[in-house]
Amino acid sequence: MPDYSATVLDHFQRPRNLGDLESPDAVAEVENPACGDRTRLSVRLRDGRIAEARFRAEGCPAAIAASSMTTELLLGKSLAEAAAIRDEDVAAALGGLPRNKLHCSVLAEDVIQAVIEAYRATHGR
Ligand code: FES
Repeated sequence: MPDYSATVLDHFQRPRNLGDLESPDAVAEVENPACGDRTRLSVRLRDGRIAEARFRAEGCPAAIAASSMTTELLLGKSLAEAAAIRDEDVAAALGGLPRNKLHCSVLAEDVIQAVIEAYRATHGR
C-alpha cells in the first residue's frame, strides 16, 4: 500500500456522500485513461449552489478518497466556483498524495468539469 495520508485513508474507509442522487440535476461519469478507474458524480443545486453531491467510484484507494473529498469540496459552491477546483486542490485537501498517485486526483477534476458540462447542457449556462 502506498504511503497514504490519514485523510486519504479516512475517506477511503469511510467515504462521504456515497451513492447516487435520485433525480439529480446533473450526472456525469469519467474514466482515467491511464488505469481504467472510473467515478460517477451526481449533483443537485439549490439557489444556484450545489446542495447535494454523491459519487460512486471503481478504483484505487486514492481515486475513492479523491471522489469522496470532491463531494465535500463541492457542497455550497456555485458552478463557477466548482469549475475552478483543480486536481491539486483535491490532493491538497486530502493531505497530499504519494507522487505515483497524483494522477488519481485528476479523475476528480475531470468529473467535476463533466458534471458542470452536463448541467449546462440541460439547464443552460
Ligand atoms: Fe487509477 Fe488511482 S490507479 S485512479
